[in-house]
Amino acid sequence: MRKTIVAGNWKMNASKETVNSLIEGILSGMNEVSSEVIVCAPFPYLSQVESLINNSKLMLGAQNLNINPAGAFTGEVSADMIKDFGAQHVIVGHSERRSLYGETNAIVAEKTKAAIGAGLTPLLCVGESLEDRESGKTEAIVEEQINAVIDLIGIEAFDQVIIAYEPVWAIGTGLTASPEQAQTVHLFIRNLLANSSEKIAKRTPILYGGSMNAANAADLISCSDIDGGLIGGAALKAEDFLQICKAG
Ligand code: PGA
Repeated sequence: MRKTIVAGNWKMNASKETVNSLIEGILSGMNEVSSEVIVCAPFPYLSQVESLINNSKLMLGAQNLNINPAGAFTGEVSADMIKDFGAQHVIVGHSERRSLYGETNAIVAEKTKAAIGAGLTPLLCVGESLEDRESGKTEAIVEEQINAVIDLIGIEAFDQVIIAYEPVWAIGTGLTASPEQAQTVHLFIRNLLANSSEKIAKRTPILYGGSMNAANAADLISCSDIDGGLIGGAALKAEDFLQICKAG
């Protein structure tokens, strides 16, 4: 049985004050939550979140990493640095990184490898644009994105990967994929993994992301191949986020 996982992606939204109240709010409801819960904070707040979640079951993640272990890469952050602050997870290949910062499938594959190499669990994001969907290319795009990673790290390494299917047209738009639309792509991804390893396909968590909220989370998560959610906007309010966590 795969566990339900709910991960919050705060993106570039935080202050010391909001981090305190958000984590406090989430922690106050965690005893009613059976899902695994991760919060992915901006780099400067990793340390603050690390101390706030101490001794709780809430887990910490970062939102990006550099593929190199150390060196002259001004402004960048390595996987080991992220681990040093108690994080166990890191988002890789978010569509905002792909579209705004030119991250190609090859770079995303290298980031996935660097994360695993340091003992972090990557949350590997894939998903099609509206144009791709309308021209019938959803499956081809997602296949290319995932195959780039399988080709580099091998299917066995997916034992340490969480996949997040995030249709770009649903991110931050309020346009959620319907449970049927999402389940179709999740099953496609699982079958794609099964082509290389049925065992890995059965075990790999595949989260849905894109305008998931307290009202639609339960319907999405109840689909057989949807194992939780990667939440943006609704992860910034403790009450909404907790409701999603409880939906799993
Ligand atoms: P959203 O973002 O929930 O605000 O659509 C999801 C994401 O970008 O991970």
